[in-house]
This record gives sequence, structure tokens and C-alpha cells, in this order.
Amino acid sequence: MATAKKVSAIKNTPKHLLGIQNLSVLEAKEILTEAKSFIKLNRGSSKKLDILRGKTQINLFFEPSTRTQSSFDLAGKRLGVDVMTMNMGNSALKKGETLIDTAMTLNAMHPDIIVIRHQDSGAPNLLSQKVNCTVINAGDGRREHPTQALLDALTIINRKDSIEGLKIAICGDILHSRVARSNIYLMNMLGAEVNVIAPKTLMPRGIDNLGVKSFTDMKKGLDGCDIVMMLRLQNERMQGSFLPSKREYYEFFGLTPEKLKFAKKDALLMHPGPMNRGVEIDTKLADDINVSLVKEQVELGVAVRMACLKLYCK
Ligand code: NCD
Repeated sequence: MATAKKVSAIKNTPKHLLGIQNLSVLEAKEILTEAKSFIKLNRGSSKKLDILRGKTQINLFFEPSTRTQSSFDLAGKRLGVDVMTMNMGNSALKKGETLIDTAMTLNAMHPDIIVIRHQDSGAPNLLSQKVNCTVINAGDGRREHPTQALLDALTIINRKDSIEGLKIAICGDILHSRVARSNIYLMNMLGAEVNVIAPKTLMPRGIDNLGVKSFTDMKKGLDGCDIVMMLRLQNERMQGSFLPSKREYYEFFGLTPEKLKFAKKDALLMHPGPMNRGVEIDTKLADDINVSLVKEQVELGVAVRMACLKLYCK
């Protein structure tokens, strides 16, 4: 008897992962389920599969990255992909070439996947219209960082079984954060209640329209929360002065053991990294294995990126 072929929720071809906003709940859940199956593999001694053998992946990082770039690099290699990471500091962009010309040049080499991080919101969308391979957004400006939100979701599910019904606080520089935006979309989609906490100057106008409650006070915003996600001040995206001083910011918005007490007793702490210790987070708290999920986020990031490569690469 012929077995029915598994139908994927991800249908558009070539498939692109440009943001959580374009995903359906089914698609998000499919990625998370697929990612779960890679967690064990990544913890074992033999980590290599060959399900994408023969495929070519180009990582195009126009902004600095430690976690995301290495994670996409390893994810591709563990699935048998030939991965090439371009150092954009040495590319022809320095000689005045446009993003699209660079993309067309690379496209002519027939890659199957381009992973792009870019300082301009919308750059991955533009690229996806010009090339005929899968494009995965690894963070664009302040718009979206879909794989970060997906790895955050997987980390929460791994600890709490489900996201449905949880209360999640996202605290810090909401205005400039693509991580905040992608997480707001995804956590809402998966049934969580989301609070955002920031000083007035770092809170985007109209944020309440995204289905969150906004607070300028940590005590009120953290009340009853299961998960506390801290964000870095994205100084590279700030033009002008948004804050009186880092010391004052830490005083009011830095997460300390005392402030964490405003949340639920068993609340867990997350941070996408890089952390600025003593600015948005107390250094001991950041390393406290009883509350901090930071290392687990990095670990599960590889599994999520493997799932995305597998599901989006035709
Ligand atoms: C985030 C990013 O680049 O948006 N980092 C990451 O991908 N782990 C957050 C940040 O830079 O603060």
C-alpha cells in the first residue's frame, strides 16, 4: 500500500523565510516540531546528516554577528550543505557595488540558499525578488529576526512544554529591536500574553496595536510573568541621545535579582545576546543556571536553523 506523502505547511516556491509576520501558525509549529528532532542529534557524538548533500548555502552578513552566523554555518554543515560565508568587509560592496548587483553575482553561481543579515529593514525581501533560491532572513534592521524568535520559542517549549497561556515580558530597547518584533508576533501567535517594558524614549509609538501591553515600570510590567526576555541597547541604531546615562538606565531597567522578584517565583530569564553586563542585566543573574536560559538559547539555535534549512530548501 502506498504511504501518503507528508504535506508541508510551507508551500511557496522558492520558499523564503523573511519574517514571522508572513508565517502561519501551522508553518511556525512545523518548524518547531522539526527543530525538536535535531536537539538530540546535536548533543550526540556523531552530528552529521546528509539530507541536504549537494546544496550550496551562502551566508551574507553585512552586520557583525557571532551567534547567528556560526549557528547558520554549523546548521548547514550538519545537514551536509556546502556553506560559504562571505566576509562583507572585503567584498566589492566596498568598491561601490549595490546589494542587488552583489546578489546577482552570487545568484549566477547557483546557490540553493542565501542567508542574509543586513542593516536595512526589508533588504532580505528585496533580495528574494531578485534571486531564484531560498532566502532566509538572519536579521534586517529593526524589522525582523525570525530564527531568533523561533529559537526562543523552542527554548521556552523545552522548559515549559507549551507557550500557550504563558505571560512573557520583553524588556529594554524595544524601539530598535528586531528580536522584540519577531517575538511579539510569534509569542502572540502561539497563545502567550506579551508585556513590553521600556523607557518612553525606547518604546515605539502604536506598539499596543501589535497586541501587547506596554509598561514603563519594571515592577508593573514583570508582575506575574513566566518568562523575562532582556534586550541590549542597540546603540548602533540610535541617532541622538535616547537616555540620560547607562547608570540611570540600569537603575530603572536593568534586570537584577531584586527586580526579577516582581515576576513569578519560577520565572526564567532569556537574552538573545550579546549581553551588556551591568547595563541591561546584572552579571551574576546572567550566569545563574537556575534562572538563565541564555546558553540553552544558543544551543537550540542550531536545531532551529537546521529545521529552517531543511524545510525551506527545495
Ligand atoms: C540580536 C540581533 O542581532 O538582532 N542578536 C542576535 O542575533 N543574537 C540582538 C542584538 O544584537 O542585540
